[in-house]
Amino acid sequence: MYFGVDYHPEQWVYPYGGTREKPESAWQRDIELMQSAGINVVRMGEFTWGICEPEDGKYDFGWLKRVMNLLGKAGIKVVLATPTAAPPIWLSQKHPEILPVDERGLVKREGTRRAVCLNSDVFWEHSKRIVENMAQALGQHPQLIAWQIDNGLGAHFTEAAFNEDTRRDWHLWLEAKYGTIERLNELMGLRHWGQLVKTWQQVPMPMTAPTVHNPALVLDWSRFCSDTIVQFVKMQADLLHQLTPKCPVTTNLRPLVHRFDHFDLAEVIDFVSIESRAALRPKSAELACEIDMLRSLKKKGIRTPDGDTGFWVMEQKAGNVTWQDVNSLVRPGVLRMFTYQLVSRGANAIVFFRWRQPRFGSEKFHGAVMPHNANPNGRVFKEVAQLGDEMKLLAPAVKGTQVQAETCILYSHDNDWALQQPMQPNKFFSLREHIQLFYNSLHDRNIPVDFARPAEDLSRYKLVIAPSLHLLSGGEADRLKLYVQNGGTLVATFNTGLVDEHNMAPDTGYPHDMTDLFGLEVLEFDQLPPGEENHLTFKGNFPSSHMHPARLWCDIIEPKDCQVIASYAKDFYAGRPAMTLNTFGLGKAVYIGTQSHQHFYTDLVTWLRQLCNLHPLLKVPDNVEVSMRQKGDGQVFFLLNHQASPVRVQFYKPMHDFLTGSAVSGNYDLPPHGVLVLDEQTVAKT
Ligand code: GAL
Repeated sequence: MYFGVDYHPEQWVYPYGGTREKPESAWQRDIELMQSAGINVVRMGEFTWGICEPEDGKYDFGWLKRVMNLLGKAGIKVVLATPTAAPPIWLSQKHPEILPVDERGLVKREGTRRAVCLNSDVFWEHSKRIVENMAQALGQHPQLIAWQIDNGLGAHFTEAAFNEDTRRDWHLWLEAKYGTIERLNELMGLRHWGQLVKTWQQVPMPMTAPTVHNPALVLDWSRFCSDTIVQFVKMQADLLHQLTPKCPVTTNLRPLVHRFDHFDLAEVIDFVSIESRAALRPKSAELACEIDMLRSLKKKGIRTPDGDTGFWVMEQKAGNVTWQDVNSLVRPGVLRMFTYQLVSRGANAIVFFRWRQPRFGSEKFHGAVMPHNANPNGRVFKEVAQLGDEMKLLAPAVKGTQVQAETCILYSHDNDWALQQPMQPNKFFSLREHIQLFYNSLHDRNIPVDFARPAEDLSRYKLVIAPSLHLLSGGEADRLKLYVQNGGTLVATFNTGLVDEHNMAPDTGYPHDMTDLFGLEVLEFDQLPPGEENHLTFKGNFPSSHMHPARLWCDIIEPKDCQVIASYAKDFYAGRPAMTLNTFGLGKAVYIGTQSHQHFYTDLVTWLRQLCNLHPLLKVPDNVEVSMRQKGDGQVFFLLNHQASPVRVQFYKPMHDFLTGSAVSGNYDLPPHGVLVLDEQTVAKT
């Protein structure tokens, strides 16, 4: 198992470290301290283009080679990042056309990172050159185990640029998609406000305008911008695969945050990596949701440096950040606990951001493993070194194990982009919040969850939840029907199937192409402002523990063949179904026409567990998160106490504690932010 840090040796040469005579001598001490913390990998290079190519066409990779040689002597491996996230200042000044233009037509200037238009031919050529030269200079180095392509793609809202090169590519992209102008006019619905075009060149980029652009055009624009990012990464991946075929490639991602199709991107790299802000967010379920999403981006064809099939954590924040209004310290034990959360959900490598607090630059007070003064008795260093020891102990137990979920939540970027556009039925609706309501209840019952795109093969899941698939293509609807037909249970909700892949509403009833699957038709949908509620009245055996409100959105449903589980209590649709169940083929299709409070989703999960025969991993008190990794019959359980006070857990059979080697049984007090890593079998045998 790899355990490491993001290292910036370029910032620790004389006069910031080392001596005049030996300007690079600080590196040796860094490496010795890394060894003492159990570190066996570093990622570096991500912002060094201006140092590796100080002048146009003049390269200097010697310093990186010297660091890699030193790391080699200490047995520390290297992930090299291609440095395209921060082009050198000479490049931007020589070719200002690479600078990105924003939606108002203003140029974003040089002097920082990500100041590029990814459609620029000049930028592509220079990027290819630096990547090729780097791979030729360092690609055969024995320490190199993987490449990270670029860094923080999409960060600082750089998913889109509005340059002339972008306009050219946009038109080519549209032509490839639609073939003829007639088709484009028709499928985009450009008759709206009479915006029909006669040539590809007339199609606008959605720049700042008096009011909203055509939603179908904006959706295509999101797809085009996403494809641009994916193609840029693919260009680098292809080069690296060709020059260093043994080295897998990855990039550091923030799923559910950056606006490009992460599933598409995962297809062009060998393994996925997450940039985790674990220790900064108090809500474990929100973090877990992002981790599960990241893991789910690539389910097959994974190639990692050590042959495992998990993901990497390329930037686990080792402490406070610098970009919040108030950058609080991460409490003792919290970093350790959230690092285990990542491992418990499938991470096979943890790399902390960053090794040492830099003395200059905008991140000089960013938390790090080492403080400015490199004191090895520092609090964070000790916590990381402890983790280093523990990961060595754990590595054999987790080797080859995987997270296996029987429940899946559907998510597509196309749908998210469609929903992020203005002029929605209810601007207070948030897809992420809706997903999180389902996710929280599954998480709190310790039921493992995967994410998938609606068109994936879902047959391995007992339960599939599809929150608000507002945009659903005919092909996706067919997949969902097939899944239920063959015995699956699908839960869908309001705001589903209201448009097809062209962002066009159906004339055959909602949810589009699925009225037969749910045995109902949605006739109208009412919108409630925040603070206003309807109520749900249940029939049958739904285990309602509270009065459940109906909020934000109320579908007015005409039932056909379905069974009604709940109906609305008031307003002109009082008595109309709000939640239904339909048998379709061998499976079941549940429809929830409204959004409720968290208790409803908790009750829903209780009901669905029975319906689908789902079991929580272990019975534990609230605030203890349980995850499991397994290989064949072998199961490794992780218990995390998210509370700042101890929690008593009861074990009905003896378990083996990997970290202490002892047996755990009966009552066990899990300390504040404490962690247990257990398996059943070893103890049973001893
Ligand atoms: C990341 C980025 C790092 C650093 C960090 C600060 O998004 O990749 O380079 O800026 O944020 O928290």
